[in-house]
Amino acid sequence: MNRNEQILTTEEFVRQNLKGYDSGHDWWHIERVRKLALFINEKEELVDPFTVEITALLHDSADSKFAGENSEQSYLLISDFIEKSGMSDIKDQVLNVIKNVSFSNKTKSGNPEAPLLWVIQDADRLDAIGAIGIARAFNYGGFRNNRIYEPEATGSAKSLKRVHQTGTSSTISHFYEKLLCLKDLMNTSTAQKLAAERHAFLEVFLKQFYKEWDFGTGMGKNPIK
Ligand code: ADP
Ligand code: NI
Repeated sequence: MNRNEQILTTEEFVRQNLKGYDSGHDWWHIERVRKLALFINEKEELVDPFTVEITALLHDSADSKFAGENSEQSYLLISDFIEKSGMSDIKDQVLNVIKNVSFSNKTKSGNPEAPLLWVIQDADRLDAIGAIGIARAFNYGGFRNNRIYEPEATGSAKSLKRVHQTGTSSTISHFYEKLLCLKDLMNTSTAQKLAAERHAFLEVFLKQFYKEWDFGTGMGKNPIK
């Protein structure tokens, strides 16, 4: 298989693998992460672009939220696929990213100091903020049947504890638990620049959200300020 065929085969593997995921983790998320990762990598000149492309395609193939307890089994499937497609030379690097990229993955292992991981992680995190990030968050919240907003709980220790216990929270509280933190977690300066605009858009959105929620009653609040 040449490199082009390896990319096409990987695309097909990923499409099959993503069936059953929520639509925030659909093929288009993978496409956007691929574009962002290739862009960041080109600017930063960190890794071989082919490796970036294959890793971007595979990065969510073992997401613990969906694979559940079966993440070890997913790693084996992915490992098997990489070997069969003649890409054994990049297998360890790719698996290292898959095991470490997720914000929510608590069972990380491998090397967190890898440039390939920095690039994919930045791309994945950029897709969680800005207009797309907002759309994905509310989509995910709907998928989990969460409320859009719980005025009492937003950002409080109480809500964080409840999320931990039940795995559910309002989507607005997810902004405080994750989305607003992401701009400071970017690994590369290229991603930091892209994140600044997207972060500013989150703040504009929240301001308008509270204004509408409040609607002149003085009862709403804007925890950003
Ligand atoms: P990652 O792929 O970085 O691990 P997740 O898989 O946790 O991120 O999340 C995928 C998408 O779903 C992201 O856009 C994220 O912001 C969104 N999301 C995750 N958890 C929640 C939640 N509790 N409420 C709303 N959106 C969420
Ligand atoms: Ni992702």
